[in-house]
Amino acid sequence: MPYRVAVAVSGRGSNLTALVDDLSTDDVARVVLAISDRQAPALAHAAARGIAAHRLDDYRDASEWMRLLDLARANLLVLAGYLKLVPSEVVGAWAGRIINIHPALLPLHGGSGMYGGRVHAAVLAAGDPHSGATVHLVDEIYDRGAVLGAGRVAVTAADTAETLAERVLAVEHRLLPAAVRAAAGAGRPVPFEFT
Ligand code: GRF
Repeated sequence: MPYRVAVAVSGRGSNLTALVDDLSTDDVARVVLAISDRQAPALAHAAARGIAAHRLDDYRDASEWMRLLDLARANLLVLAGYLKLVPSEVVGAWAGRIINIHPALLPLHGGSGMYGGRVHAAVLAAGDPHSGATVHLVDEIYDRGAVLGAGRVAVTAADTAETLAERVLAVEHRLLPAAVRAAAGAGRPVPFEFT
């Protein structure tokens, strides 16, 4: 039976669609639910692929999250560009079963307010030779849970936040499926190799 994956999103949903496409090639895992705090384009992409897509009535309401995750019989919750905090009761009840993807090499350039172009601008401002993407376990502090896997990209002198974002995103689209496939194999999120 495929491992059942719920994905929380707030934006365009390119990671969600990359994950759905990757998982459609076999029966290891399936995206069974997309959840959003807003009417995100990502929800429409999920619905167009026949996935249950749900805008939360109140994203702070843990019982609504729990009801949706239970109904979908989800094994894993993936945060893929989800911009609000997941209610702490959900994080507690789902400890060890929630992962997030972040567009930098954590623990660098994470934390509250570090999302989108700001992350890549911070990498450039710091003069880091490398950036990349990280998948980590979610706990109650933004971007602080245990790192499970990461993919690197070299930063070049010609990079702008936009060009760097584009190369990092291409890595994200391979990294997230690798993380979910590793989780499906182990029955829970686990550290994984990525090249
Ligand atoms: C990605 O860069 C992800 O790492 C971050 O939010 C962005 C979401 O992009 N957490 P998309 O909605 O998947 O295109």
